[in-house]
Amino acid sequence: MNHALETNLKAYNTFGFEYHCKGIIRIFSVEMLQDVLSKNFKPFKILGGGSNVLLTENIDAYILKNEIKGISITQEDEDQILVRVGAGEIWHQFVMWSLSHHLSGLENLSLIPGTVGAAPMQNIGAYGVEQETAFHHLEAVHIETGSIHEFSKEVCQFGYRESIFKNTLKDQYFITHVTYQLYKKPQSLHYSYGAIEEVLNAHNISNPSSNDIAEAIIEIRKSKLPDPKTIGNAGSFFKNPVISKEQFLTLRNTYANLPHYPVSDTSVKIPAAWLIDQLGFKGITRNEVGVHKNQALVLVHYGSGQGQDVRMLAQEIQAKVKSTFNIEITPEVNIW
Ligand code: EPU
Repeated sequence: MNHALETNLKAYNTFGFEYHCKGIIRIFSVEMLQDVLSKNFKPFKILGGGSNVLLTENIDAYILKNEIKGISITQEDEDQILVRVGAGEIWHQFVMWSLSHHLSGLENLSLIPGTVGAAPMQNIGAYGVEQETAFHHLEAVHIETGSIHEFSKEVCQFGYRESIFKNTLKDQYFITHVTYQLYKKPQSLHYSYGAIEEVLNAHNISNPSSNDIAEAIIEIRKSKLPDPKTIGNAGSFFKNPVISKEQFLTLRNTYANLPHYPVSDTSVKIPAAWLIDQLGFKGITRNEVGVHKNQALVLVHYGSGQGQDVRMLAQEIQAKVKSTFNIEITPEVNIW
């Protein structure tokens, strides 16, 4: 069976870098996963949609590609519904499914690339909402023993693009299903984000539905973020840094218009895109890779570059941000 496996990862990472692995094994069910884990496909790495990973070299491991599908309603009352989703489903297709069933809760997370399994892993978020708001629980297989475990929201320890699966439980579990709690009548809609309001106003919508918000967000994302089918990318490359209020006040003496969002009484979040933009990186290219012209947080691959080129550009940006603003920015993307 080994020698028949596909090894080229180009179609499996949205940056579109061509590197090889020992073999790509598609996992369609929990039983198949347990069977593969009991065989000798070692070492291995787990991949979802490949939309949050930067490959920088060939991988001396098997790749387990999560293709577990299926959307089913497991509980329902007159207000809400629990929906269990295969972790290999495409996230945006699940969001569209929820909207077509008149369910609210995921509209702000429209058009985020990747799979459902990756959503809790990095607690995806956009436009004021993170997946943890709608998250109910997930099921995952323990890689060492093959046993199935359930994780509640509390156990997942969600944070800003963080969860227990990126930290203490890293590489220990394979997420197979995620259950979300969605609402038949919107609980609370979030559309006070400047860009969303602008689009809704432009369409003369003052009392938006979940669908209206989703459509506005799709319009915004399409205008700012490059489609990986055309230009390779993995969304935001860096996380937005959190700095002390003290440092923020000092920086504001020099940069009066420094954008910021309060995080606590003592800390603020700064948009990394603004820092990168200030330094003149927006739109630059280096060896077939570069910084997107419409969003400085997105690093792009124009087609025949190497993953290493992106890593070098990222390091150059990090160093310049550090030397100019004394702020450390760290990648959001997983670097392999
Ligand atoms: N900005 C610039 N130059 C740019 C882009 C932005 O100066 O080229 C400044 C502007 O001041 C803007 C601010 O940065 O107001 C924030 O920009 P934006 O609203 O585009 O959001 P972001 O902080 O860059 C985050 C998420 C995105 C998410 C958007 C919208 C992270 C790392 N990124 O980006 O998520 O879509 O907010 O909510 O938190 C992703 O994670 O892959 C991703 C795309």
